Amino acid sequence: MAPRTSHSLLIYHPDSKIYQMIISKRLPQLKIHSAFRPKEALGFVGEAEIILAWQIPDELLKQAKRLQWFSSMGAGNEHLVKNPYLPKGVTFTKARVYGEMMAEYVFAYLLYFSRNVDKHLKDQRKKVWDRVRPARLRGKVLGILGLGSVGEEIAKRGKQFGMNVLGLKRIPEPVENVDQVFGQDDLDRLIPSVDYLVDVLPLTAQTYHILGKKELTLLKEGAFLFSIGRGKTIDEKALKKVLLTKKIRAVLDVFEKEPLSPRSRLWGLKNVIVTPHVSGISMPEEISEEFVRNYEGWVRGEPLTNLVDREKGY
Ligand code: OXD
Repeated sequence: MAPRTSHSLLIYHPDSKIYQMIISKRLPQLKIHSAFRPKEALGFVGEAEIILAWQIPDELLKQAKRLQWFSSMGAGNEHLVKNPYLPKGVTFTKARVYGEMMAEYVFAYLLYFSRNVDKHLKDQRKKVWDRVRPARLRGKVLGILGLGSVGEEIAKRGKQFGMNVLGLKRIPEPVENVDQVFGQDDLDRLIPSVDYLVDVLPLTAQTYHILGKKELTLLKEGAFLFSIGRGKTIDEKALKKVLLTKKIRAVLDVFEKEPLSPRSRLWGLKNVIVTPHVSGISMPEEISEEFVRNYEGWVRGEPLTNLVDREKGY
């Protein structure tokens, strides 16, 4: 007997077919439609009770008259929180799968620099035997701006490496693996004490340009800044100026405007690593796994843990 169809799901994404293949095996009862162009979705969106997507045009959302649950594939959803076509009655969840992957990104570069990978590769090419001492991560101070699902994973790994972990949180309550939690008003105290500052803040009215000239200048000589959350939380103009002094180094994965313009000076600075918003990238298996788990909870009427708080903005 064919399984009972329980809900209609629209998957809207360039890889929607891959998502459909994975999810339909786990939830054969769903009626699934996959699309990545408005015209491919228009005939279905009106009956969709669930949408799994990240970027979706308003012309589609506005037709989603039966929508009950918008399951975002993204961690940051500032483009959707105030969208009038996603009214409060619609359950709105975010993805919480990116923490591990983004922590891997941060530690890839932390280790790359501390273990002199670049120098040893260059030396190898020249057949040079130079036993420079590496910098240790143990005892270094790691500051994490934003202690959500991503910040927590970074903190965990920082502790495993013996680092002293500081963090910034809207409500500065204790967080596992974080030695000291600061509130937004205490940013000026946190910044000068870190060796590595990782910005994973969501973009909200409070976090826009939270790192400006004053804050960036507080970073100590030789400190590293990682920007992996939202580019607009940093004043990029001010950042460029500070980077040009060579006082600090930066690993930048997100920018005020993406893609980063080929004309940006950031590309060419020797104390900067530029990557194209890849620290956390959606993996169909991981997103689908989380979606299936949530779906099973949702149909049982259980509260979902990864709800977007529209007031807070993330
Ligand atoms: C996200 C992102 O928020 O990819 O998921 O930036």
